Amino acid sequence: MRLNVVVGISGGIAAYKAVGVVRALVLAGHDVHVVPTEAALRFVGRPTLEAISRNPVHVDLYEGVAEVRHVAIGQAADLIVIAPATANTIAKLAAGIADDLLGNTVLASRAPVVIAPAMHTEMWEHPATRANIATLRSRGVTVVGPAIGQLTGADSGPGRMEEPEAIVAAALAVVGGAEAAPASDGPEDAASTDAPVADLAGVRVVVTAGGTREPLDPVRFLGNRSSGKQGTAIAEAARARGAEVHLIAANLEVSSPDGCSVRTVSTALELRDAVRDALASADVLVMAAAVADYRPASVSEAKIKKDGSGDGLTLELVRNPDILAEIGAEPHGGTLLVGFAAETEPDDDRLLELGRAKRRAKGADLLVVNRVGWREGFATDENAVVVIGPDDLVVTERHGAKTSVAHGIIDVVVSELAVRRPVSTHRGSAHPI
Ligand code: C5P
Repeated sequence: MRLNVVVGISGGIAAYKAVGVVRALVLAGHDVHVVPTEAALRFVGRPTLEAISRNPVHVDLYEGVAEVRHVAIGQAADLIVIAPATANTIAKLAAGIADDLLGNTVLASRAPVVIAPAMHTEMWEHPATRANIATLRSRGVTVVGPAIGQLTGADSGPGRMEEPEAIVAAALAVVGGAEAAPASDGPEDAASTDAPVADLAGVRVVVTAGGTREPLDPVRFLGNRSSGKQGTAIAEAARARGAEVHLIAANLEVSSPDGCSVRTVSTALELRDAVRDALASADVLVMAAAVADYRPASVSEAKIKKDGSGDGLTLELVRNPDILAEIGAEPHGGTLLVGFAAETEPDDDRLLELGRAKRRAKGADLLVVNRVGWREGFATDENAVVVIGPDDLVVTERHGAKTSVAHGIIDVVVSELAVRRPVSTHRGSAHPI
C-alpha cells in the first residue's frame, strides 16, 4: 500500500540524517511530504528535501492559506514521522502547541505518530523531557531510540538519533508493516526497510511466561488461566530486536518462540529457582507469568478420594514466596525489573492506583497493568495494558494484538535502559547526532 507519509524535521544536527529517512520512504514507494521547522532548515536545505522527497516542501504557516495547508497536510497523512525530534519539539508536541506548520500538522492529524528523539544526554535525561516523552507515549506516540553511542564530539551516551533505516522500519511496523512497490528510479543502494530495529542488541532478557500449577495430588492442581501468550510475545519481540532471550515457561498453551533458550517449570517454587539461576546474567527480567500466591500445604501421594465424611473438602494452603518482591527488595545488580499486575478492578483510576502501589511494593522498575476478567486478558490474542514507570508516571498505554502490545512494552524497556546506561565523562561541546 502506498502511504501518504509526513516527515517532520526539527532543528538539530541530526536533521541531515532525516534526508536518509525521506529517501528510504520514497524508495519504498511512499508519497512523502516533508515539513521542516524553521530551525531544521538551518541544518538541511529545502532544495535537498524537495529533490529527495519529490514533493514541494512547506514551512510557513501563512503560505498556502487558501488551501488551508495548516490542516490539509495532517488530514491527508497516513503516518507522521518526526526525525529528529528535538527536546523543544517534543515539549511542544506534549503540550499541543501549534505555532508552526509542523505543530499544526500533528494536531490536525489522526495518523499514528513516530518520533526519533535526538539531543544531548543531559537533555534526554532531564525530568521535563522524560515527562514529555511519557505524555506522548501515553497518547500512543511511538518513540524510536535514541540510540546510545558516539556523539559528534568526544562524548557518548543516550541521545544519538537512531539510524534512518531503523526509524523507517519502526514507523512502517506501526502501520502494519505497510509495503509499497519500490519507486522504479531509485538508486541501487536503497535503504532496506524490513529489518527489525536491533535496539536490544547485546542485552540479555529473561522472561517468565504462562501460569504456575500447584499440585494437590498426582492428578490435580491449583492453577490459573494464563496461556502464556503475552509472555511469549514479549520474548519473541525482544528476540526480534536483537536481545539474547531466556524464557522460563510455566505450563504454556502456546509454543515457545524460536531463538530463545527455554527452561520449563511448573510450580511457583520451580519458577523461583529458574529465575534465581538466570538473574545474575540478566540485564532485564520480565515477570509476565501468573504465579500462584498459595500452594497446598501438603501434596498427597495418592489421588484424594471422596471420603464420605461430608459434602465439603477443606484444603490447607500456605503462602508462596513473592519472587519479584524478594528480588526487588535485595541488591539485584542493576537488572531492570518489569512486573505485571493482572487486576479485575473495573475503575480505570483505581486500576492505576493498584498498579502504582504494586510497583512500589515489589520494587519493580516498570509495572505492566492489565485488566483481567472472564473474557478479558487471559487466553485471548488481544490485550490492553498501561505501563507505569519508575516515577509512577504512566509511560505508555497499549492495546491491540498481544504481539504489538509486546513491542510497546519493549519500547519502554529500551528507553529505560538508555536512561540507565553509564554516560562517558567527556562532556565537551559535542552535539548528539
Ligand atoms: O501480587 P501479584 O500476583 O498481583 O503480582 C504480580 C507480579 O508479581 C507478576 O509480575 C508476577 O510474575 C509476580 N509474582 C511473583 N511471585 C508471586 C506472585 C506474583 O513474582 N508469588
